[in-house]
Amino acid sequence: MKDKIDNLLSEIETIEIKSKEHLEEFRLKWLAKKGLVTALFDDFKTLANEERKEVGRHLNDLKNKAQEKYNHLKEKFEEIADTSSPDIDLTKPAEPIAFGSRHPISIVRNQIVEIFSRIGFTIKENREIEDDWHNFSALNLPEDHPARDMQDTFFVKGQNENSNYVLRTHTSSVQIRVMENSKPPIRSIFPGRVYRKENISARAHCFFHQVEGLYVDENVSFADLKQTLLYFAQEMFGEKTKIRLRPSYFPFTEPSAEVDITCFICGGKGCAICKQSGWVEILGCGMVHPKVLENCKIDSKKYTGFAFGMGIERIAMLKYQINDIRLFYENDVRFLNQFKSA
Ligand code: PHE
Repeated sequence: MKDKIDNLLSEIETIEIKSKEHLEEFRLKWLAKKGLVTALFDDFKTLANEERKEVGRHLNDLKNKAQEKYNHLKEKFEEIADTSSPDIDLTKPAEPIAFGSRHPISIVRNQIVEIFSRIGFTIKENREIEDDWHNFSALNLPEDHPARDMQDTFFVKGQNENSNYVLRTHTSSVQIRVMENSKPPIRSIFPGRVYRKENISARAHCFFHQVEGLYVDENVSFADLKQTLLYFAQEMFGEKTKIRLRPSYFPFTEPSAEVDITCFICGGKGCAICKQSGWVEILGCGMVHPKVLENCKIDSKKYTGFAFGMGIERIAMLKYQINDIRLFYENDVRFLNQFKSA
């Protein structure tokens, strides 16, 4: 038996295996349950004890050799298959690249900016961490003014006790910076992110985006303001849109107004979006308060101006009928993908 095993050992070494199929034949012949090696082990059991030791060693050798040869070739064939197997279809198109889409806030922001650029408004941006002067005091909101409560504020600790910084509550702060640094005529819009200490809900968030606007020159009138806003509303919501101004209050404008547009969903007949009133509110505006002009060293006897401000989220929610502001900040692609073609 020992000689038989030795012969088989040298046979294994000489067997040439050229394909996966050959290898499988090899496995069946040598290593399978009904293969040669198993058969030899069965014979082995019949041997006398004194023979077993030596034959056992040879038999184990044979088994290991066969197994090694098999493992080695199997690995080799798999490697080859990885690169050149006919299972790989090289003509198959690649996985499609997932293109991103513009965020609805960017889409609406760009539309607003574009509409005002067409009538000569330039775009001005500035810092989000503001000092008290630019966010409040210069806007006719002195320290103890109750209207400061209109906008719950995040305060930022400065380097020393007296420095008063806030996360800007509106981009009116940029209006002040522009008026301080340039001479009329000034005609600009101010897009940007603003922060308010609100509880987060479907209707409110602790930050959102605004576009404010400012026009300062000689003889700027309330009629100019109204016409500018009518133009904007019709460009944004359709040419049939009408606007309505309701008296309101802002410390930095006098007179002040809130602007409604005819509901673009029902055309003014009344629906769920406009709460059956036919009108939806879109922005606040007014004539720049003379004190604000003076705070920026602009002669309020010579110059007048109008200003307005709107929330981009609000406009986007109306336009796309989105009922939860939080959707804008969750970045769920199922939400964002819906604006692909917008
Ligand atoms: N700053 C105001 C706000 O954030 C909006 C506004 C701007 C109102 C300019 C009037 C004039 O609510």
